[in-house]
Amino acid sequence: MNEQAIGIFDSGIGGLTCVREMNKLLPNENIVYFGDTARIPYGTRSRETIKLYAEQDIGFIRKHNVKMIIAACGTVSSTMGSCKDIDGIPFTGVVIPAVQAACAAARNGRIGVIGTPATIKSGAYGKAIRAIRQDTAVMGNACPMFVPMVENGLTDKDDIIVKTMVERYLKPIKKEKVDALILGCTHYPMLYDAIAEYMGEEVKLISAGAEAAKYALNVLTMKNMLNDSGEQGTNLFYSSDSIELFEENARSFMGEELNGQVRAVSTDELVKG
Ligand code: DGL
Repeated sequence: MNEQAIGIFDSGIGGLTCVREMNKLLPNENIVYFGDTARIPYGTRSRETIKLYAEQDIGFIRKHNVKMIIAACGTVSSTMGSCKDIDGIPFTGVVIPAVQAACAAARNGRIGVIGTPATIKSGAYGKAIRAIRQDTAVMGNACPMFVPMVENGLTDKDDIIVKTMVERYLKPIKKEKVDALILGCTHYPMLYDAIAEYMGEEVKLISAGAEAAKYALNVLTMKNMLNDSGEQGTNLFYSSDSIELFEENARSFMGEELNGQVRAVSTDELVKG
């Protein structure tokens, strides 16, 4: 039995797509979540800045004596690359878990990937897909407006702005007749209904954050590190910007009373380490 928490971070509330799945799959686990809402977006920044922020985020998460770290952020995952342990602590990003699911789901080997500009520019999803399945055609497109839309609660599938932006970004991918689409940024599942409606039911949508949660379950099971105390796990959320805003957005996404306490962390603390 291992009662240490699992640390999950993202540039904002997108990583909650991973937390939600973790709560379902691993209800006994304690979660410490950090959303760097003061410095979001990461996806339009340089590789160097994304790496620096990711190091600081990981430094903060590690202060909580975690047994596993999940970068529930497509941008960080694409920039950091691998799923290697960090000083002996199991670590995963979202790229490999999402790619494994997409390769299994794409019957005709036609896979679409959407993500932030940094993610698409990195080519990380495409490289990981080809490493698993050489017979695939991969179509990527960056969707820079999706993150600000989600962070501002603009997610309703019937909203004209949402419909317009979804069509604008997904039209070139739909034309390619993909059979699986990786939502390669963890914010995008909050636009799931709009994306699903536009792409049609024959296209399997893969949520990177949810796949990372399933991957974490496998890792912790294999390493015999699950918390089998039998008690309900707790969520503790940290936000580097307004707690109220985080609570409001997180609640609308988690679809219930926010199941955990929200605390503030300053960017000064992140930088000092
Ligand atoms: N959730 C992040 C991702 O998965 C958002 C990116 C951003 O901060 O721009 O890429």
